[in-house]
Amino acid sequence: MLADFSELQRLHSSIAARPILDLFHHDTERAQKFSIHADGLYFDYSKTNIDDAARTALFDLIEKSGVLKKRSEMFSGEKINDTEGRAVLHTALRHQSDEPVVVDGHDVMPEVRATLKRMETFCDEIRSGVRTGASGEKFTDIVNIGIGGSDLGPVMAYEALKPFVDGPHCHFVSNIDGAHIHDILNALNPKTTLVIVASKTFTTIETMTNATFARDWLLTGVEQNDLSKHLAAVSTADDKTAEFGITPDMVFGFEDWVGGRYSMWGPIGLSVMLAIGPQNFHAFLSGACAMDEHFVSAETSENLPILLALVGIWHNQICGYSTRAVLPYEQRLLRLPAYLQQLEMESNGKSVAVDGQSLPYHSGPVVWGEPGTNGQHAFYQLIHQGTRVIPCEFMVGKYGHEDNLSNQHEILVSNCLAQSEALMKGRSFEEARNLMVAKGFEGDELERQARHRVFPGNRPSTTLVYDKLTPYVLGQIVALYEHRVFVEGVILGINSYDQWGVELGKELAVALQPVLSGEQDGAGKDASTLALVALLKR
Ligand code: F6P
Repeated sequence: MLADFSELQRLHSSIAARPILDLFHHDTERAQKFSIHADGLYFDYSKTNIDDAARTALFDLIEKSGVLKKRSEMFSGEKINDTEGRAVLHTALRHQSDEPVVVDGHDVMPEVRATLKRMETFCDEIRSGVRTGASGEKFTDIVNIGIGGSDLGPVMAYEALKPFVDGPHCHFVSNIDGAHIHDILNALNPKTTLVIVASKTFTTIETMTNATFARDWLLTGVEQNDLSKHLAAVSTADDKTAEFGITPDMVFGFEDWVGGRYSMWGPIGLSVMLAIGPQNFHAFLSGACAMDEHFVSAETSENLPILLALVGIWHNQICGYSTRAVLPYEQRLLRLPAYLQQLEMESNGKSVAVDGQSLPYHSGPVVWGEPGTNGQHAFYQLIHQGTRVIPCEFMVGKYGHEDNLSNQHEILVSNCLAQSEALMKGRSFEEARNLMVAKGFEGDELERQARHRVFPGNRPSTTLVYDKLTPYVLGQIVALYEHRVFVEGVILGINSYDQWGVELGKELAVALQPVLSGEQDGAGKDASTLALVALLKR
């Protein structure tokens, strides 16, 4: 079903010119009314131009788009990914109650728990040195070979949870560019390295090519007969993992009702569990499970994923801001923007609704970002003074992990808060002019210099605050964004769980390879592509 945004658009046109700051002047309780606390998280969306009327109309959208019904369908295992005929049950991977989770009449939980148990045993054995490489030496390094959802989640979580890493070092190879695997393996010893080939389909060309190279590299330090001790796989395709030479006890499977970009909660998270240990991984799952429960049970007005989604819809579909910046003031979340790019853009970057109609409005936004404060010294110039409005999503923890650097944490936090304040308030021409007068400028030059120092302000942002970035909190944040994507997708009337848009490029790349190698001519190719082939052909 397509969304009807007419009422929201009407409301927006009547308030578009109103400064956000005025909302605070008219309502001294706005900061409290337009923010929520949920399970240790605080979400402030008061620095947007959403007012009571707009919020009510946004809540209506939840009703009218059938979000709550679809939510029940998702959690109860219905095949809501209907272009692939699949249920969407990544939530089962972190489900912690005794309630069954049923797909096709079958409770999937016993199998989910058994796989988790196997992962835990495997990790304990490797971390303690009971399970070693062929030489009997403890594994010091793990190389996870995967791409997209089989890479971005684990690498993001590994970086985010560095203070909890007490197991082997993890390295992540994704790119088909040989430089990636070369630079990583070059620094490692095959005798003490475990390679995990992570691929849902076990057909992805980047992963399989890198995995083949890594298997050969292992043989530079490990006998052929012992290779299996150094190779594990995470996949839904048992036949293909066996064909690759990975023994069944080193294969961790999952089902097709877990989408690639939603898969870090199960075996795709194996490298993370090896690094932080089963107990911490369990806390990560608990955080996500708590967010699932919140999403299912909280009222719309108190529901974090729903509120994030509604703010997203307001900015993108109603205000027409086509990108959003994710700005974690947390260095260890450096890979979160990249992770969210796949989660949001692969999920909601569609131009056809579930029923096949073309969308009459924009699909999901362009998502991008960098950790603060680095971004401040790079692209914030455009956010503050550029001609486009870019809604910013700040996130920051109350505490860092480094007690001896708490003064730096305070500077970090003040920067985060200062940015959202500056974006909202801006600096008027009058204020800029006064500053220039104080600096001694006069006449035309005073006017000219002042104009460059004006900040338009009225630029929206939200702020998500957590206590400290623990495994539990990371689980909450990631699940929050997953459900936000779901809610936005339902409102837009699209299937957030397929990704047909990645296929054409893959097909053409396979077809171009023999043209580049000279085995085939480029019959049928356009002139630009042929000219590039001629230039790049070796
Ligand atoms: O090309 C996109 C994609 O299919 C993603 O959806 C997925 O996360 C990634 O490729 C990797 O797929 P696989 O885990 O099957 O190797």
